[in-house]
Amino acid sequence: MPDTLILPGQHPILSFAELLTLTGLSPDAIQTATPDGFIFAGTLTPAQFPRLGGTIKAGQVVAELDTLDKENVLLRIAAYLRTEPAEKLRFGLSFVGPNSRSWDPEEMAFLVKSAVEDKSIRYVLPKEHGQTSAAQILHQKLLPPDGYDLTVFLTHDKAWLARTSHIQDIESYRLRDEGRPFRIRSEGMMPLKLCQIMINLATPNRTETRPTLLDPFCGSGTILQEALLADYDVIGSDLSPDAVKHSEANLAWFKKYMLKDDAAEWSLFTQDVRQIGRALLPNSIDLIVSEGYLGELFTKPPTRELIAMQNKKLAPLYLAAFREFHRILRPGGKIAITLPYYLQENISLAEQILDAVLTIGYTSSSLLPEGAARALGTDSLHRIRPRGTYIYARPDQLIGREILLLQK
Ligand SMILES: C[S@@+](CC[C@H](N)C(=O)[O-])C[C@H]1O[C@@H](n2cnc3c(N)ncnc32)[C@H](O)[C@@H]1O
Repeated sequence: MPDTLILPGQHPILSFAELLTLTGLSPDAIQTATPDGFIFAGTLTPAQFPRLGGTIKAGQVVAELDTLDKENVLLRIAAYLRTEPAEKLRFGLSFVGPNSRSWDPEEMAFLVKSAVEDKSIRYVLPKEHGQTSAAQILHQKLLPPDGYDLTVFLTHDKAWLARTSHIQDIESYRLRDEGRPFRIRSEGMMPLKLCQIMINLATPNRTETRPTLLDPFCGSGTILQEALLADYDVIGSDLSPDAVKHSEANLAWFKKYMLKDDAAEWSLFTQDVRQIGRALLPNSIDLIVSEGYLGELFTKPPTRELIAMQNKKLAPLYLAAFREFHRILRPGGKIAITLPYYLQENISLAEQILDAVLTIGYTSSSLLPEGAARALGTDSLHRIRPRGTYIYARPDQLIGREILLLQK
């Protein structure tokens, strides 16, 4: 079976974790992992790739070299292109991985072209971050069967040559985000890729039927739409009747323009999360994915006293919510939820309530999959908190999202 190269987005730990849960791969299938790329034994199905929010590109490994010698690598790329049937060909060339800094794509592409004398060859050079972008790959037609987007992934002792087979559909993300009739910025909309990642993290291992997903703080329905796209049955609720109206309008738009006719259905209703058990049957939900209520929004960094006051209100709300979730979630069902994390003061609400949440009858899972800590290096490890939660935030934010993963 061929190997696959995965190029993750800005949160490699999350990319790694969602890849394992969505594909059902065991960590042993991962041959090598660095923050810039992972190689696993196997392939992605065409249906799996678009569901991965954390993977920018994936490609099939076409050669594996036990050397980092530039001449050897360039001759191997030339040999690969020479054996391809087309007389005229176009290729893109990128170098990624811990040892890629000293590799100049322009020089290497020129040398590769010179080494393949019997074909008419044109090459495309990366514009940003040393990698050909999704836009370049699309516009220059570098995907199979038209062209070749080649990535050389350089680990400490090996070079892997991969041909890109999938790239994230930037146009689809743009439409799914900007096309919605209601986009309520003040409520803090979830980035679509984070929605996908969280859905994947909470996805049941196997079910015979379409899983049922609940978002009990649904806002304008961002998580719900991404779950519909991934073919989940979807239930959304919110305390605010306006939020429920916005979700209804957004999902109706989404169904019309983005979903197939036989797509799953949704239901929406107004409900305080603290009484959600009144509206749903016990053990009826397979997974809960949600961006929790952040409390009062601050315009300048809150003091420790303000944060303490805020958390004093939020802690009982979440504890009541987790008690309700335990009744409606089926045994083994999972929750992926974001709670507010106060970045300037490093104060975590999740840490304050986690012990009490676990006594309700959950286990918590680390967002750092087994074996990933060593492989992924220290760059992104500061985002993992001691209890295995993950801080998803931009440096300019006041409140970040802390992702918590629980299982009943
Ligand atoms: C951060 S927003 C969710 C935004 C949503 N993920 C989106 O992308 O549109 C939090 C939501 O929680 C809702 N909320 C606040 N308190 C609630 C409660 N007690 N029960 C249910 N929903 C509540 C708010 O109305 C708000 O829509």
